[in-house]
Amino acid sequence: MKIENTVLVISGGASGLGEATARHFVDKGARGVLLLDLNATRGRELEAELGGTCLFVETDIADPLAVERALQAGVDRFGAINAAVTAAAIPGPSKLLNRTGPLDMATFEKVMRVNVSGTVNVFRAAAAHMVANAPTEEGERGVLIGVSSGAAFEGQIGQVAYSASKAAITGLTMPLARELASSGVRVVTVAPGAFETPIYDAIPEAVRSRMASVLQFPKRFGRPDEFALFIEELVRNPMHNARTYRFDAGVILPPSF
Ligand SMILES: NC(=O)c1ccc[n+]([C@@H]2O[C@H](COP(=O)([O-])OP(=O)(O)OC[C@H]3O[C@@H](n4cnc5c(N)ncnc54)[C@H](O)[C@@H]3O)[C@@H](O)[C@H]2O)c1
Repeated sequence: MKIENTVLVISGGASGLGEATARHFVDKGARGVLLLDLNATRGRELEAELGGTCLFVETDIADPLAVERALQAGVDRFGAINAAVTAAAIPGPSKLLNRTGPLDMATFEKVMRVNVSGTVNVFRAAAAHMVANAPTEEGERGVLIGVSSGAAFEGQIGQVAYSASKAAITGLTMPLARELASSGVRVVTVAPGAFETPIYDAIPEAVRSRMASVLQFPKRFGRPDEFALFIEELVRNPMHNARTYRFDAGVILPPSF
């Protein structure tokens, strides 16, 4: 899909990997970038900075009606939705057995609601618009891009909820790709390793160094613009479909850092 014809919706678009993707697509001449996020202050700042190609709608991705309304606002402004990246997520540190007792199920369910239901909410609303798009010469109408994590494969101690939620995104990729193939909508997932975003702001330097040391090469955190470049490739190149791509400089996560 050509970037200049693309209207991209990004959940979690006000920070980190989502923000970098928004900046990249605006730079590359996308037709529109629709940002959904709970962080209205940051979202509005970004919208003002990026100009008329960017629309921010304060949205809780766990709320299906709010997501539908936000995507309709994007269609009203830009005329279509061609691509979606679901970068909004929460970590929810959780062990099965804590010093204070067993896993708090409210925490577990919140992580699943935001990370899994939130992804499906954005996908369902986006796909409903995509199937109405005029097809490209090859019959393509859209692409849905889930954001998983290395934790889906080598979840660390304390990541019960987060790992389960990220594995769920990997799990729904194939059935959705199969379901939407006849409509010309691709479905792929990217599973990043460690990327330099605000989620690591509170992590001590010693832990960050240990994290970088388990990468093959380069032994450093990824830059958000490197993630955005990969999203561009996933949007542009129609041969990407039905897969989860680990994108992590070859990291194999140990049980803990
Ligand atoms: N940064 C990394 O190293 C890394 C590694 C693996 C996976 N990931 C995944 O990449 C994605 C982006 O991560 P990031 O590092 O940019 O995180 P981030 O915290 O910088 O950005 C996430 C954004 O999601 C928003 N958000 C949270 N809950 C929301 C909700 N209910 N509705 C709407 N917006 C909501 C937050 O306000 C925030 O702006 C996440 O899915 C994360 O799990 C990141």
